[in-house]
Amino acid sequence: MSLSSMASVAEAARDIAAAADLPALEQIRLHWLGKKGILTQAMQQLGQLSPEARREAGQLLNVRKTEVQSLLQARRTALENARIQERMAGERVDVTLPGRRVALGSSHPIRQTLEWIEQYFSGLGFEISDGPEIEDDYHNFEALNIPEDHPARAMHDTFYFDQNRVLRTHTSPVQIRFLEAHQPPLRMIATGRVYRRDSDITHTPMFHQVEGLLLDEEASFADLRGLLEDFLQSFFARPDLPVRFRPSYFPFTEPSAEVDVGCVICGGSGCRVCKQSGWLEVLGCGMVHPAVLAGAGVDGEVFGGFAFGMGIERLTMLRYGVNDLRLFFENDLRFLKQFS
Ligand code: PHE
Repeated sequence: MSLSSMASVAEAARDIAAAADLPALEQIRLHWLGKKGILTQAMQQLGQLSPEARREAGQLLNVRKTEVQSLLQARRTALENARIQERMAGERVDVTLPGRRVALGSSHPIRQTLEWIEQYFSGLGFEISDGPEIEDDYHNFEALNIPEDHPARAMHDTFYFDQNRVLRTHTSPVQIRFLEAHQPPLRMIATGRVYRRDSDITHTPMFHQVEGLLLDEEASFADLRGLLEDFLQSFFARPDLPVRFRPSYFPFTEPSAEVDVGCVICGGSGCRVCKQSGWLEVLGCGMVHPAVLAGAGVDGEVFGGFAFGMGIERLTMLRYGVNDLRLFFENDLRFLKQFS
């Protein structure tokens, strides 16, 4: 075997430079340096040479082998880098693209009404208060001038736990709790759930009320009228909305009244919602009864005032033209999304 018969490094270098990817490069490595590779075989044939020629050829082969190895290594690094560059280009994140939007919820229409009312009355100096939904007989009835066996108890279809404990049938007990903790002059507003054994198209066993109480040295029925008229006209966003007070009866107020607004559905001409009357009843109110003041230890000779209460579902239905009470409790997103 002559040295010239051994393939030149130039040929290997050409092959290596032309290798398009790592598998192709591996084939070239095997071709030159593998078990049956050209340089490996040449090494094996060294034994056939004379000792002198063998040393010379051996050195030359070793140099070639090293050169080929470093060429292979350089090409491998280059191919690997190219592959990384390609991947990075493919996976590049365009930070200027618009993000995926997170679907935000919104508050329930009942809550929106509660919050609107709280905001309206806080703006007039009313303190926001609350009380327990499980009430005792004293706060729910007795202290509100509704003694046992009083026919007025029939106005409330009460859920009883036992003789002394009920699910509160209205938010009026919060009046009593507030009076136990505060001295007049005072103004408070309380919102929350109330419960009655009632279930049909226009009644649910649980609904929401807002209670208001104002005691001062000079607080008249005229003040009550002015306040509620402005409240209702603001709430329905109609400065010209007709508001009327009808004499009524509540044991804890005297005199008492129910308040109607001109039907916001038909404008007063008569429809199914207002039962052709042109008017909608929206709240109850009156001057706080002397017996309630006395029971709470308030000097009725010095302080007096008024209280009012209203149903939130009803107000919300009228405000948004919702015709079915049950929609508020079904949590159907198609309904709720209209209030976001
Ligand atoms: N608590 C009464 C009801 O639930 C409403 C009311 C509150 C009336 C305050 C007068 C004063 O029907």
